Amino acid sequence: MRILFIGDVVGRCGREAVATALPKLRDALRIDLAVVNAENASHGFGLAPDMAAALFAAGADVITLGNHAWDRKELIPYIAETPRLIRPLNFPPGTPGAGSILIELANRRRAVVLQAMGRLYLDALDCPFRGTTVELSKYKLGASVAAIVADFHAEASSEKMAYAHSFDGQVSLVVGTHTHCPSADHQILPGGTAFQSDAGMSGDYDSVIGMEKTVAVRRFWTKMPGEKLNPAEGEATVCGLFVATDDTTGLAVRVEPVRLGGRLSPAMPVV
Ligand SMILES: [Fe+2]
Ligand SMILES: [Fe+2]
Repeated sequence: MRILFIGDVVGRCGREAVATALPKLRDALRIDLAVVNAENASHGFGLAPDMAAALFAAGADVITLGNHAWDRKELIPYIAETPRLIRPLNFPPGTPGAGSILIELANRRRAVVLQAMGRLYLDALDCPFRGTTVELSKYKLGASVAAIVADFHAEASSEKMAYAHSFDGQVSLVVGTHTHCPSADHQILPGGTAFQSDAGMSGDYDSVIGMEKTVAVRRFWTKMPGEKLNPAEGEATVCGLFVATDDTTGLAVRVEPVRLGGRLSPAMPVV
């Protein structure tokens, strides 16, 4: 199975770049499962339902969220009726939506996508490690499901690596989101799980994590509340990860970065 994961879509430039790139990437890389993190799609904060619908229309099979899940309140009723849009599984019990989805792909293969959120420098949620263990107990990789993708939305690379090692061999891919910077540590762990501590954002990299740099920089200098942060709207780089798995085991055989357009050096797997 070929999996494409695209990191945090930020603002209009990120949405437009992903909407343009995703159909082409699906085709060129012969993607079976495409997952997009879109917690910052709406002006940097949250995701509006029409923007989610546009990403699904462009070829996202599953959309994940994060700490900005509820910044656009219209998403609350929408997530209840849109199972392919998921939020972290360790949000409090009773939170709208779900933290995972089992989907049926072409030629009857099934895949699971789940999201958990870290707790270092983020909200004190339920334990993401124990929550993921409970979720994974429902499936057997390579038997009941052909692939399992875990999006670990977290700040600290230590927590991300610990999470990946915890589930090495049980999932096809652990990919980090949230920092908006693509890491160069993509690898296949000893147990066969592909890992990258952060996929990076899909947005304008002439910015402060996707936000317009002048205001963002001033905030650090002055430590004063001030002007509203707006997304930077230069040309976006689409950042993500390509993973190929063995259908009999569900484990990774290839993991390579994808970077397209904008300011960062390009990277494109040859399929
Ligand atoms: Fe983000
Ligand atoms: Fe985030």
